[in-house]
Amino acid sequence: MKKLFALVCAAVMAMSLLAAAAADAPAFTTIEPGKLLISTSPDFPPFESTDDNDNIVGIEPEIMALVAEKLGLEIEFVPMDFTSALAAAQTGKTDVVMSGVTASGETGESRRLMFDFTVTYVSITQAIVYKAGSPVTMDDLGNVTVGVQRGTTGQIYVEDAYGEANVVGYDTYSLAFQALQNGQIDCIVVDDMVAKAYVERIPGLEMTQTTFEPEDFAFGVYKQDTGLCDAMNWALQELIEDGTVQAIIDKYNTAE
Ligand code: ARG
Repeated sequence: MKKLFALVCAAVMAMSLLAAAAADAPAFTTIEPGKLLISTSPDFPPFESTDDNDNIVGIEPEIMALVAEKLGLEIEFVPMDFTSALAAAQTGKTDVVMSGVTASGETGESRRLMFDFTVTYVSITQAIVYKAGSPVTMDDLGNVTVGVQRGTTGQIYVEDAYGEANVVGYDTYSLAFQALQNGQIDCIVVDDMVAKAYVERIPGLEMTQTTFEPEDFAFGVYKQDTGLCDAMNWALQELIEDGTVQAIIDKYNTAE
C-alpha cells in the first residue's frame, strides 16, 4: 500500500513537473506548424557557413538547434544573400533570420520595423581586413577601395563616414574576399569575429580593429508569428543563463 502511494506520488510529481515545463514555454505560432523556417546568409564564419557537405554550420545553427529543441520544432535552413535573408523574415517567407544580424544602434532600430528581435547574445566591432604588406587603417578608409557585403552595418558605417564613392558592395563575403585576393579592392570592412575567421582561412591576409560603435547580434522574427519571439527568448534566456551560448561561442572563437 505504501509502495503504491509512493508510486502515485512520484507519478503526480512527474506530471506536474512536465506541466510546469510546458507552461513556461509561451504559446506561439509558426508559418508551417511544427517547423522553424530560417533564412540565412551562410558566408559568415564562425556564425554560419557551409561545410564540405553543404551543411550550414557554426555558432548560430548550434544555438538555433537547441532553441528549436526546447520549443519542440524542426528546423529548415533557407540559404540566400544577406539582404534577401532579412527581407524573407520581414515578409513571412521565413519565421526567422539567422545571419549575425546587428540589433543595436540606429541600424537595429530601423530593422526593428521589419521584424522583432530576440534578446542579443554577443557583441562585435567592425574590423578591416587587408593584404599582408598593404595595411589599411581607420584613417585610410576614405582614400582606398573598400569591399562590403550589401545591406550590412559594415556598408552603412563606411558610407556614412566616408561616402559611397570608394565602396564596392558584394552579395556575399565570399565574393568580397575573392576580390580582395585578386587585388580588385584594398580592404574589406566586416564584423571582427568574421574577419578573424577569414584571416585564419585565407593565407596572406591581416586585420585591424575599427573604432566604429560596438554591435550586438540577435535573431529577427517574423512579426506575424504570434508569440514566437517570446518563446524563442524564453529558450534563449535559459541557454544564455546556464552558459551554453558562451560555451558555443568559445568553441568557435578560440583558434588564434
Ligand atoms: N552584423 C552585420 C549586420 O547585421 C553583418 C551581418 C552579415 N551576415 C551574414 N550572415 N553575412 O549588418
